[in-house]
Amino acid sequence: MKVSIIGAGYVGVVLAAGLAELGHEITLVDIDNKKVEMINNKEAPIYEKGLQELLEKHVPTQIKATTDLKTAISNTELTFVCVGTPSRKEGLIHLEQVKGACLEIAITLLRKQAKHYMVLKSTVLPGTSEECIKIIEDVSRKKFPKDFSFAMNPEFLREGNAVHDFFNQDRIVIGSSDAEIVEKLKELYQDIKAPVLETNFKEAEMIKYTNNAFLATKISFINEIGNICKKLGIDTNVVAKGIGMDWRIGPHFLRSGIGFGGSCFPKDVSALIFRATETGYSPKILRAVFEVNEAQPKKVIELLDKKHNSLAGKNIAILGLAFKADTDDVRESPALQIIKELILEQANLHVYDPVAEEPVKKLFPTLNYAESAQEAIDNAEIVLLLTEWQEFTQLNYGDKLVIDGKNIFDSERVHLRPKNYEGVCW
Ligand code: UDX
Repeated sequence: MKVSIIGAGYVGVVLAAGLAELGHEITLVDIDNKKVEMINNKEAPIYEKGLQELLEKHVPTQIKATTDLKTAISNTELTFVCVGTPSRKEGLIHLEQVKGACLEIAITLLRKQAKHYMVLKSTVLPGTSEECIKIIEDVSRKKFPKDFSFAMNPEFLREGNAVHDFFNQDRIVIGSSDAEIVEKLKELYQDIKAPVLETNFKEAEMIKYTNNAFLATKISFINEIGNICKKLGIDTNVVAKGIGMDWRIGPHFLRSGIGFGGSCFPKDVSALIFRATETGYSPKILRAVFEVNEAQPKKVIELLDKKHNSLAGKNIAILGLAFKADTDDVRESPALQIIKELILEQANLHVYDPVAEEPVKKLFPTLNYAESAQEAIDNAEIVLLLTEWQEFTQLNYGDKLVIDGKNIFDSERVHLRPKNYEGVCW
């Protein structure tokens, strides 16, 4: 199938690579010239396992990148909208990019004869798909579903595992009132072995938010238990293992530590709180999820303060800046919050991350950026482990105090723990 994808961010690029591997012909559109050039040069614009290989395989035969949105829409049958939906701190999400894409599609449809299929993948609050259809109808003077079709098809890809997740989906959610686009998408994804859940627009939009809110709740729940366990001298990891063996709970997303970050959980939970509050409902659980998460990075500082009267002038190594391993993404990373607190306490920071240093250099240009994790350790008297990169288990920590915020030395690696080791919740 000939498919255009608007937005070459995490979701758009991975979708392009995945669909090309399934045999489809992809035109990837972005306003960023540099990104377009990189993709056309077979270079992955983000660090994502397996992506580089797929771009090398499919550019330019099955994937082409361009800034020319109108031509891309005219020459394809189906368009995915994968643009960003950034949010303000209070949870209001910005739909300018989504609405802008709809407008461009509508203008192009004015001159396109054949029926066009449009699929929204960006995470949007319930009601947005219907707003998008209205924009397209008003501008293109075409009618849904007769002249163009529309579906909401949320993504559930984890950064760092996004390529794997694309080919191994638990389910494919397709929200639409038009059976024709549902069939089109089933055909597009036919080689992915996953059940398809057909819903209406709002249900599909809400499934995405609820999915992320539930996973975030699991994490804040185990972090709260972890904070209690720490006070009682209990290893939370063993407790998590014990409850995870109950099939009704399951073992996943029960890793306690410094809290969740990234581009989705914090933003989606706050957007849902914002939307709920707008309707007159005050969501208690979601607010608590947020509150526990905001406080969790401070647990590292509390542990440090307990051991040292003052951190002023202390050399502290920060290993890991990304919000999790296998990504260079530092959005909402708990490591950044910890760095801010330590700067306030006038500590001398030696930081290292195998792939995520560049964006942090822009935020904190004066920190000591080490060439290697070992160099950061050698320059410090205290080490903080803030991203679960596996390479951090293979280093020489000597007898320096090591505070682990990510349970890097978990059950199979307990024997590798440094001599002077302490976990945040264990
Ligand atoms: C998440 C969702 O998993 C994905 O379905 C959605 O499409 C986008 O948001 P992502 O943000 O890439 O994906 O990462 P994920 O692996 O879910 O982790 C999110 C955060 O939670 C990370 O900071 C991670 O370290 C933390 N986490 C995860 C925990 O603290 N404990 C856990 O048990 C699991």
